[in-house]
Amino acid sequence: MSETSNANSFSIDGQRIPFTPGQTILQAALAAGVYIPHLCHHPELKPHGSCKLCTVIVNGRNGSACTQMAMPGIEVENNSPTLNDRRRVLLQMLFVEGNHFCPGCEKSGNCQLQALAYDLEMLAPHFRHAYPVRPIDTTHPDVWLDLNRCIMCELCVRASRDIDGKNVFALAGRGVDSHIVVNSPSGRLGDSALSIDDAAVHVCPVGAIMVKRVGYAVPIGERQFDEQPISRQVDYLATRHIPIVPVAATEER
Ligand code: FES
Repeated sequence: MSETSNANSFSIDGQRIPFTPGQTILQAALAAGVYIPHLCHHPELKPHGSCKLCTVIVNGRNGSACTQMAMPGIEVENNSPTLNDRRRVLLQMLFVEGNHFCPGCEKSGNCQLQALAYDLEMLAPHFRHAYPVRPIDTTHPDVWLDLNRCIMCELCVRASRDIDGKNVFALAGRGVDSHIVVNSPSGRLGDSALSIDDAAVHVCPVGAIMVKRVGYAVPIGERQFDEQPISRQVDYLATRHIPIVPVAATEER
């Protein structure tokens, strides 16, 4: 092993992880095949640091793996009972804050929130459900928006702005009233510039933004995270930006 490669490495749970300068801890970990739980991260978008699922302990201090840069020699704690307990609590709060009914959700089996809950063995929501009243927008011919399932990761906001160049989605409100809004004259998706091929349509980690007419194309039980736990599909996000265009979508309108 060269001196240079030794200099550009750090450890996660005792395992040596090589990195290239400029990589975050999360990027280096995923590239090395080491899974760190995450929800608001996407490899094609700048780090956001909002979900906190990726929180690790770096040289004794808490830090977000998706925003903290990899540095030579740092010691990172990731897959420990303490951190996974905290992650379970974060997931429990996400599940009660919105309306997530996995058994009837088209995204079941493809949902990162659900997959993480399984992976971290979240057995019950623990907290009282908020049951918020949130709108569903089905006005777009090819895409529908269900804010009941939104976890406020803002991936759609960032993808629409930074990849699609459209700013279709934005964050409005503060604190518990924060919510995603649609940038159109009526505030409805059908009046926006959103296209089915937009990255914003395909980065949602949950079932908040769904393509119409493909909900059950793949049966439950044969979907991405039905096959293998999310923690064993370290590079699962690599395919998440690819548009899934429904068969003859435009003809069916
Ligand atoms: Fe790091 Fe969400 S993935 S805070």
